[in-house]
Amino acid sequence: MEAKDTCGAESGSKKKKMKKSKQNDERILPNILVTGTPGTGKTSLCKKLQEKRSNLKCINIGEFAKANNCLGDWDSQYECHDIDEDKLIDDLEDTMAEGNVIIEHHVTDIFPERWFDSVFVLRTENTQLFDRLKTRKYNEKKLEDNVQCEIFQTILDEARDSYKPEIVHEIRSDILEDIEKNASNISSWIDQWIKDNS
Ligand SMILES: Nc1ncnc2c1ncn2[C@@H]1O[C@H](COP(=O)(O)OP(=O)(O)OP(=O)(O)O)[C@@H](O)[C@H]1O
Ligand SMILES: [Mg+2]
Repeated sequence: MEAKDTCGAESGSKKKKMKKSKQNDERILPNILVTGTPGTGKTSLCKKLQEKRSNLKCINIGEFAKANNCLGDWDSQYECHDIDEDKLIDDLEDTMAEGNVIIEHHVTDIFPERWFDSVFVLRTENTQLFDRLKTRKYNEKKLEDNVQCEIFQTILDEARDSYKPEIVHEIRSDILEDIEKNASNISSWIDQWIKDNS
């Protein structure tokens, strides 16, 4: 099964979680998944985080898939490429085993559960999200599906189903100040994780 670049569309199979790599407790640096409906501010947050911690490896899955030939067929309904999940997971295994990685993507259940020590789900007020997405010139279906996805907290529920609920954190991303606040909080979380696991 393949993930599509729109909320509410197909997401990943769990079989990747069976593959082997370093377990969480073998890493000395944490990995984080930043997720949320398209437009909630994942990339903005990751950029801010990287300003604060320049040694963090931030990986945007869409860009990574494109750069590493992990794109599948073109989906004309959602106007995006499928992602070849098996190749993507294989290509990222070694990097994830090192730790200190932030992955950003709007689909949560394509990754092995053991990869992440924390999952942050960005949430945005519906009308604000609509305005942000409207500027992207999405087709009407894609725009509606993404706003519905936020209204029904699809990504949050998917994250809670895919990872231990206690590592899944819902954070607001409504106003610009939230970007700085969330980056500071996540940076502090990383410091604490390193202390706790050293
Ligand atoms: N907390 C925020 N408050 C106001 N505007 C924001 C906030 N976060 C991001 N934005 C703005 O919303 C738009 C979308 O942000 P961004 O590209 O970071 O979202 P994204 O979640 O990465 O989207 P995608 O999943 O499509 O890559 C940008 O114009 C950005 O400047
Ligand atoms: Mg983005």
